[in-house]
Amino acid sequence: MTNASPALLSEALGTFATLFEEALAAGEPDRTAMTVATAALDGRPSARTVLLKAWDARGFVFYTHLDGRKGRELQENPHAALLFHWPRVRQGVQVRIEGPVVIVGDEEADAYFASRPRGSQLGAWASKQSEPLDARATFEQRLADAEAEFEGRDVPRPPRWSGLRVRPDRMEFWYGADFRLHERWLYECDMAGDCRKRMLYP
Ligand SMILES: Cc1cc2nc3c(=O)[nH]c(=O)nc-3n(C[C@H](O)[C@H](O)[C@H](O)COP(=O)(O)O)c2cc1C
Repeated sequence: MTNASPALLSEALGTFATLFEEALAAGEPDRTAMTVATAALDGRPSARTVLLKAWDARGFVFYTHLDGRKGRELQENPHAALLFHWPRVRQGVQVRIEGPVVIVGDEEADAYFASRPRGSQLGAWASKQSEPLDARATFEQRLADAEAEFEGRDVPRPPRWSGLRVRPDRMEFWYGADFRLHERWLYECDMAGDCRKRMLYP
C-alpha cells in the first residue's frame, strides 16, 4: 500500500502522540527515556539512554556533548535508532524510530540550555563526556572552576553541546498481546518521501 507521505507520517506521529500521553497517564517512571543506538563507520553499534526533549514533524530531539562517543559516531555516520519501551501502556508498547540525524539550530539549543537548572548547565561545562577521568576529584574541581568562571552571570551553552534531531524515515509500533501474538505496525518512507504502512509478523 503506498500513500502520500504527509498523511502517513502524520498518522505515525499521531500514534506516537497518543501513546506518549497514555504513558503519562499510566504512570511510566520516565516516558521520555529512550535508548539511542549509533554506529561508527566500522559498523560497530553502541547504545545508551538519553531523554527526549522535543518532538514534532521534523523529528525527535535529544541533547548531548558533540564530542562524546555518540556525538563522534553521529558525526561519522549521521544515522540513529531510538527505542522507547512503555510496559505500563496497554499490554506493553515498544516504539522504534530510525532515520538520519541533524543538529538543531543554535537558537533552539540556546533556548533549551537556558531552561536547564544551573547545576546541569555547569555540569555540561565541567564534563568532557566519554573521556577517561582519573579521579572523581578532578571532575569536582572542573565543576568548581566552572562555578567560579560564571559566578554572577548566566551560564552560556558550551559550544560543543547541542541538540540532535532524528528525522524519522522508519517508525514501528509494537503492541504486546496475549500468547505473544503481538501486533506490529511499520511506517517506512523512502528518499523521495513516499511512505507506506505495513503490518509485520510478531
Ligand atoms: C535515564 C538517563 C537519561 C540520560 N539522559 C542523557 C541525555 O539526555 N543526554 C546525554 O548526553 N546523556 C544522557 N544520559 C547518559 C548517557 O546514557 C550516556 O552515559 C552518556 O551520554 C555518554 O554516552 P556516550 O559515551 O555513548 O556518548 C542519560 C542516562 C540515563 C540513565
